[in-house]
Amino acid sequence: MTEKELQQLISEMSLEEKVGQMVQRVASEMVSGAIVTGPEGTVETKKMSIGLIGSILNKTGAQTLHDLQKEFIEKHPHHIPLLFMYDVINGMDTIFPIPLAQGCAFSPEMAEECAAMARDEAVAKGLHVNFSPMLDLVRDPRWGRVMESTGEDPYLNGVLGRAMVRGYQKKGNMSACLKHFAGYGAPEGGRDYENVEISERTFREDYLPAYAAVVKEGCCMAMTSFNTWNRIPSTGNKWLIRKVLREEMGFEGVLISDFAAIDEMIRHGIAEDSREAAKLAIEAGVDIDMQSNAYMNHLVDLVRRGEVDEKLIDEAVMRILKLKNSLGLFENPYNGSPEDEKRLLLCQAHRNKARAAAAASFVLLKNEDLLPLKKEEKVAFIGPYVDNFKIHGSWTTLEHPENNVTVKQGVTEKTGACLSAKGAYVLDEGQKTRMFDPEERPVSEEELLREAVALAEKADKVVLCLGEHRHQTGEGGSRTSITLSKGQLRLLEEVAAVNKNIVSVVFSGRPVELKRVQALSQSLMMVWMPGTEGGNAIADVLYGDAVPQGKLSMTLPRSVGQVPMYYNCFRTGRPNPTGDRVGFIHGYIDESTKPLYPFGYGLSYTTFDYTPVSVDRTEMTKDRAVEAAVTVTNTGSFPGTETVQLYLQDVKGSVIRPLKMLRGFQKVSLQPGESRTVSFQITEDMLRFYDINMVYTSEPGLFRVYIGTDSDTQNAAEFTLTE
Ligand code: BGC
Repeated sequence: MTEKELQQLISEMSLEEKVGQMVQRVASEMVSGAIVTGPEGTVETKKMSIGLIGSILNKTGAQTLHDLQKEFIEKHPHHIPLLFMYDVINGMDTIFPIPLAQGCAFSPEMAEECAAMARDEAVAKGLHVNFSPMLDLVRDPRWGRVMESTGEDPYLNGVLGRAMVRGYQKKGNMSACLKHFAGYGAPEGGRDYENVEISERTFREDYLPAYAAVVKEGCCMAMTSFNTWNRIPSTGNKWLIRKVLREEMGFEGVLISDFAAIDEMIRHGIAEDSREAAKLAIEAGVDIDMQSNAYMNHLVDLVRRGEVDEKLIDEAVMRILKLKNSLGLFENPYNGSPEDEKRLLLCQAHRNKARAAAAASFVLLKNEDLLPLKKEEKVAFIGPYVDNFKIHGSWTTLEHPENNVTVKQGVTEKTGACLSAKGAYVLDEGQKTRMFDPEERPVSEEELLREAVALAEKADKVVLCLGEHRHQTGEGGSRTSITLSKGQLRLLEEVAAVNKNIVSVVFSGRPVELKRVQALSQSLMMVWMPGTEGGNAIADVLYGDAVPQGKLSMTLPRSVGQVPMYYNCFRTGRPNPTGDRVGFIHGYIDESTKPLYPFGYGLSYTTFDYTPVSVDRTEMTKDRAVEAAVTVTNTGSFPGTETVQLYLQDVKGSVIRPLKMLRGFQKVSLQPGESRTVSFQITEDMLRFYDINMVYTSEPGLFRVYIGTDSDTQNAAEFTLTE
């Protein structure tokens, strides 16, 4: 339809119909029924009639959605189709590594391919909108939702977010939805839904750029966040939505509230009731109310009584109809089909990509000659993650974890056998998770331990598969301690007492505290929540069919007391270069100020040598870039892929500047002995920041350009920016 035709349609719609477009409800209310209060306070399940709504959340399945759509369109006065929305965070049926792991792969190409396959499966199941990517910058691993972020760096998050949007939106039949606007990743104390107390400078400089990058990529939808910033809930923050998102970033798409976030403004204490919350949200610029009753119950009346300008409704409806139009819903409201589902879900091509993506996301942190394993070695695989199907992270609503490949299956497939023992449960008795997902405990912890230690004694090497429960991260999954369970740590100690050749493989949705694990292991690898093909990918990497190449997308702290800890922090007036404190300098008396492993860190089975950084000129102007280069050589005996990282440092500014800022990276694959020169163009716009007057600009002066293997690199050259 043309814009004129859409305008005509809006002019023919009743106010009720228009407001209906702005209402989203969960499908269970229409499909299987909502829990409602019946006569005399009894509780019953009642199937709701669809009524005048614009979109539905949380239902998939081509046939079910086709039926719903058909019934709805027939009844709707103007036959306007519904949008079906869902959270396809790291895959629909084929599960790719969690976003935090995808961050560690430092590969926009891979992120785009995984997103495109997730889109194909989601579209096959009838969906139109995916509530992804999440661009929330995270610096505190206590926050449960770190697993949904690609990490702690604004630049990396932007690059990967853009790639995901390209993957989701490329075919034009699905819209991505950036979330959560804005700053949701910075809750105080890492407590989910907590308020955010950061300065406007930090907010603009570190937290907003990734959302802006994705808006620039053409992301069609955005979602508000649950948190407050500057003491105002995002869902009612007119400045944030109308000025920052719409005017400054140029977002023209549809803005949806997060789940029930409009009504939550009552509990935040800025709205008296649902009616006032609805008024705040529409005036702030929220187009769709996800699952609170505010728009549904109050918008019509607010307009009728002249308290809300109907123009605001018309603008929101126009954005919604434009989205429906651009997705082709007026021509074909039915995405996918049972045949597409059969053809695409968990197909071999998707499984192959999931396997390669998982392998590329693993981060080898330590390797004292134990890896890769050899098939002829007697290896004992011990731990609660050896024979565990639940390795897909907390978001996926996967109904069949048995589609996943366990470590035991992957190793058996590769070597013909897998000597194994569970050794411990993932959780200690009574340990809480965010959702009820109990572990069966048929035998005692003592018995598990005894069996594992006996197996370890007889083996050449032990691969210990340890980790967090998948529901120790995710929404509502914040923790005050970020360690493995006591049972698993005990298993580690007892196995280490009888076998010194330990390879620890750690599953988690966040950076966990690994000091003790690192000390007792000769090799250590993070595999995060690797998804459907996790077991095969782990076997590939352990046995050298794939070489590790992941780099940490989040700093790994030594202890939870250090958090928040991030590489792009600031110098202090009392620096402490070694990290060990003596006297009145920056730091702790009981712990180093250094992390266990820094951002960008990750080993390979081979080694890479870097030449010193060279620059083609030492003076930069607004129109004349500097080219910086290094030559990287594979000095080991395996082919390998290195992520060459470019960091900049503004040596002096009108306000203090970060120690280092990632501004580029390139992956190079090299055969043993092979060298490649890697160069980066550094332009003036890469040096801009919010100056003392909050003007986004660059300041003339000295800059350092670092190129190296991780954020700790000291390999640097200098240049000066002149007026
Ligand atoms: C989450 C969002 C999600 C929405 C819909 C909320 O609880 O914060 O990330 O997209 O639910 O499922």
